[in-house]
Amino acid sequence: MTVLAERIEVADIAPTRTDDPIFHLRGVKYVYNGRHTALDGIDLDVWPGEQVVLLGANGSGKSTLLKLLDGIYAPNEGTMTALGSDIAAVASGTDSFRFHRRVGLVFQDPDVQLFCATVFDDVAFGPLQLGMTQADVKERVDESLAQMDIAHLAQRAPFELSGGEKKRAAIASVLSLRPDVLLLDEPTASLDPRTKWVLVELIRALGRDGRTIITTTHELEIVPGIAGRVVVLGEDRRVLADGTPDEILGDRDLLLRANLIHEHRHQHDGVVHEHDHEGDHHP
Ligand SMILES: Nc1ncnc2c1ncn2[C@@H]1O[C@H](COP(=O)(O)OP(=O)(O)O)[C@@H](O)[C@H]1O
Ligand SMILES: [Mg+2]
Repeated sequence: MTVLAERIEVADIAPTRTDDPIFHLRGVKYVYNGRHTALDGIDLDVWPGEQVVLLGANGSGKSTLLKLLDGIYAPNEGTMTALGSDIAAVASGTDSFRFHRRVGLVFQDPDVQLFCATVFDDVAFGPLQLGMTQADVKERVDESLAQMDIAHLAQRAPFELSGGEKKRAAIASVLSLRPDVLLLDEPTASLDPRTKWVLVELIRALGRDGRTIITTTHELEIVPGIAGRVVVLGEDRRVLADGTPDEILGDRDLLLRANLIHEHRHQHDGVVHEHDHEGDHHP
């Protein structure tokens, strides 16, 4: 009797989702130039406050999907809403201004994002576009630089920065709009190991503030640090799996199928050895 009562109580307090998803995609297809299919039937819901990693091999459609989530592209087929709006309205520009105050995309290449004379100016650009006062702009810039721990770089020119510093400046330039949703395209790609972990810690801290963060990567090692949920894009350009980091990273067959690890066979003294490798293999 007691046990049953306890069970009911636990079930009663289990979280239920009453809020609407921020992103809702069904059967979303995206084709470049009418010829190259980049996404071929994506079904995905993302809820407020989630930290999602989109994990996929090169060419699986991660960047394309982020551009759809940011309203840069509209689907060729399927249905998609973002923050309750039809994404086609955002992509056509009708709803773009309101949308981009709430959703910010950090491109893989920081040079796309940094075009001003100083880091300060780049981070101030968004708030200035919103018509904020000088004092408010400065407050936003200081806050964003502090979040990325680069206050000391404010007066530097972007071209003087290291890869990791540029990345942090690019993220700060998006944070200054105080977006609810942050989209990060391969934020740790081509960074040295120490810089990579600095960035993982910074992204983790942003997630603790309750932001929704969607990060693409093909690097398995960074996933546990930044993900509450992992969505795997398969080579067929659809969602292959969706689960917790433990579930996904523990599924060797899945990772092999998604081309996120590969089995490497070679011989020593006539004996065949098998190893799993993560990411690129340099012979
Ligand atoms: N501008 C483009 N024109 C034509 N095809 C493209 C373009 N950008 C990407 N693609 C193709 O779309 C597919 C998905 O690319 P992308 O989204 O960049 O994948 P990922 O970011 O996972 O590496 C790939 O086959 C790629 O060659
Ligand atoms: Mg990409």
